[in-house]
Amino acid sequence: MEKVDYNVQEITNGIWAVDEFSMEYLYIIQGTKRSVLLDVGTGTWDLKSLVESFITTPYSVVATHAHMDHVGGIGQFDTLHIHRADIPCFSLPEETNPVGLYKRRLYCRLAIAAYGEERLPFHPQDLLPVDMTKINLVPYEDGAVFDLGNRSLEAIHVPGHTNGSCCFLDKEDRILFAGDNFGETLLLPRGKTDKEFVEIWLAGAQKIKAREDEFDTICAGHSCPLDRQYFDDMLIAAQKLLSGEINEEVYQVQEMLGPMYHYGKAYISMAPENIQTRDYSRIQNPRRY
Ligand SMILES: [Fe+2]
Repeated sequence: MEKVDYNVQEITNGIWAVDEFSMEYLYIIQGTKRSVLLDVGTGTWDLKSLVESFITTPYSVVATHAHMDHVGGIGQFDTLHIHRADIPCFSLPEETNPVGLYKRRLYCRLAIAAYGEERLPFHPQDLLPVDMTKINLVPYEDGAVFDLGNRSLEAIHVPGHTNGSCCFLDKEDRILFAGDNFGETLLLPRGKTDKEFVEIWLAGAQKIKAREDEFDTICAGHSCPLDRQYFDDMLIAAQKLLSGEINEEVYQVQEMLGPMYHYGKAYISMAPENIQTRDYSRIQNPRRY
C-alpha cells in the first residue's frame, strides 16, 4: 500500500503550509535574506529535509507555542525561538512535557485515525526522543520582528492557550499566522478562577482585532486558511462567556467531545482534561449532545 507523505500547499509565493498527516499545520516562510520555519510539528518524519528542499537561504526555527504538535519535532534542529513565557514547559515531567515521547506518541492517534497505520510512513513507537540539552532555546518577546528581507514576521503575544502563545503578522503578505490562538476551537487551561484564562486570552485577542485591517488571510495551527468567521465568533464567544450569556454544554467538534462554550462557529473549552477524542474520520459536523 502506498505510504502518504507530508502534504504541502503553497499559500502565496514563497510561503507553504505543511500538513503533518492531518495532525497540524506548520509553515515554511521564505525570505530574500532569511527564512523561517514556523512550528516543527509532532516530529514524526523527516521535516528538516523537506524544509531544506524548499528554501535556499539560512533559516530560523520559530514556535508559536510549546505544545507537542508544535515543538515535538525540534529534535531535528539545533535552535528554537520561542516566547519567554513558554520556556518552562520544556522542564515539565515526561508525561506532560511537549517534547516527551508520551504526549507525542499519543497525539499520533489523529494521524492513524485519518490514514490508518498501514499508510503512514512512521509508527508512533519509532518517534525519536528529543535531547533538550542539545537545543538552544532563544526567547523572544511580544513585538519581536523576524526580518526576512522582502517580508517580516511580528510576534504578537496572545497568552491563554499557553502562557507564551503568540500570533505572527506578516504585513507584507497580509497574513496572520494564528498558532492555536484562533481556530474552530480554543482550548484554555483551568485557571485559579474558572474564567481567568478567558479574560487573559480576550485581552490578547483584542490586540489582534484592533489590527484586523492589516491581514486578509489567517493561517492557523489546525486550519489553513481559517474562515474569518471563526475569528470574529471566537471573540464574541469569549465576551458572552464572561458576561454569562452562554453556558457550558457538551458538544462534539471534529474529533473532540466534551463541555464547551459555543457561539456561531466558535467553541471554547475551559476544561481540556474533560475533552474526549473520538475517531474523527467518522465525524462530519459539530453536534450538541
Ligand atoms: Fe496548542
